[in-house]
Formats: sequence, structure tokens, C-alpha cells
Amino acid sequence: MLSVSEALKARTSIRAFLATPVPEALVREILDSARWSPSGGNLQPWKVIAVAGSERAAVIDLAQKVRAEHPAGEPTEFPIYPATLWEPYRSRRYLLGEAMYTLLQIPRADKAARLRQFDRNYEFFGAPVALFFVIDKRMGHGQWAHLGMFMQSVALAAIERGVSSCMQEAWAALRGALAHHFQLSDTELVYCAMALGYPDRTAPVNALRSERASVDEIASFRGFRA
Ligand SMILES: Cc1cc2nc3c(=O)[nH]c(=O)nc-3n(C[C@H](O)[C@H](O)[C@H](O)COP(=O)(O)O)c2cc1C
Repeated sequence: MLSVSEALKARTSIRAFLATPVPEALVREILDSARWSPSGGNLQPWKVIAVAGSERAAVIDLAQKVRAEHPAGEPTEFPIYPATLWEPYRSRRYLLGEAMYTLLQIPRADKAARLRQFDRNYEFFGAPVALFFVIDKRMGHGQWAHLGMFMQSVALAAIERGVSSCMQEAWAALRGALAHHFQLSDTELVYCAMALGYPDRTAPVNALRSERASVDEIASFRGFRA
């Protein structure tokens, strides 16, 4: 079994999955483990909608319809990124994209091919199972952070069981349509999706190992040395 540190390293975003099913019992086991995530006041401000089979196909169809109508995504009060990014974030995002498209041998100028790859988000990159993470809009930034912890727990509990994942905020582009489709209450919204399945090891995109800033770049240490 993977140690926590091994699982942290082993979890990478997988963007090409095999069709091999992930049984409901295994998805339940993953969520049963992840539900022990912490949250302020123990609110547990998360709900999960897991889809497979015909329900997965229905949301893929929905995405096609909505994206034909709103190619840039539905208007949202919670955009994925700030309108403009600043350093070092802008460069980090740029480098990730370049590393991924280099692996896929898609040059910057080939916008159509880059878009086709992006569109694979809306097929869960072939994953047989997808999770949609739902939060109540009345919650504040703290609870959104706690939902993020829960999502990381899901990804780690999955990789411990040999199941790979890709978090997919791309699905935020159709929050209104998803809320309607899943019959969410007026105050609920889908924050993010997560593809779950087994990786296609032959797919070049899955070789992507994104960079991380070093500990010295992200942390300062005070009072440790006399
Ligand atoms: C909340 C969240 C949403 C994400 N949404 C997407 C997405 O829509 N599509 C995608 O391909 N990757 C998505 N990612 C994956 C990130 O690009 C990835 O986590 C980051 O580049 C680090 O790489 P790694 O996950 O392989 O370690 C998302 C990650 C997070 C945490």
C-alpha cells in the first residue's frame, strides 16, 4: 500500500483513460475513506454526484449542447481564474500548457488541435466514472477551501486503490445546465468535476509530470535557528 507521501507523488492528473469500468463498490470505498477529511466546524460542506454508464453519457451530451451555444462557457459569478494573472502564476500556467502540448506534439500555432485536446475534458478524457462536487453558494471562501481538501482526499484515496483521476474545473463552463440537469436546489452549484479511472499508459499526455515550486519558494521559516 502506498504511504501518504508516495500517494501525494503518485497522484498526477491523467488525461487519457482506459474504458475499464470502476465499479460502484470501489467508488463508494474511495468516498468512504475521503469523507474523513477535515472541515471548519465539521460542516462537511460538500456533496458528490457520481456518474457512470448512461448518466455519464447524458452529461457528455449536455456538455456538447451547452458548448455549441456558449463556446466560451456560460456566464458565471465564480470564474475559474482571476481575469488577468500575475507572476509567478501566469508563467506557471503557461509552462503547464506548453509542457502538455509539447508531449502531445501540438504546436502553439495549431489552435484547432489545442482546442480539440481541451474538448476532451467534456468526455472525461475517456474515464468511465466522473464525480461532480457540489457546494452551497451561500458558503464562504473557507468552505470552498474545505471542499478542496475533500477533493484531494478523494484523489489520494483513489490512487491508493490504483484508480487515477483528473480534477476538471472545465465543467464550471456549464454550471447552470448541470444544476438544472441534476435538479440541484437554487443555492447549490457544481464547483468542479473529477474523472476517475485507469490510465492509458501508452498515451503520451499521461507522461506529464508538472513542476512544483521548491519549499524555499513557497515557505519561510522563522524562529527555528538560534
Ligand atoms: C480544482 C482543479 C481543477 C482542475 N481542472 C482541470 C481541468 O479542467 N482540466 C484539466 O485538464 N486539468 C485540470 N486540473 C489539473 C491541473 O492542471 C493539475 O492539477 C496541475 O497542473 C498539477 O498537475 P498534476 O495534477 O498532474 O500534479 C485541475 C486541478 C485542480 C486542482
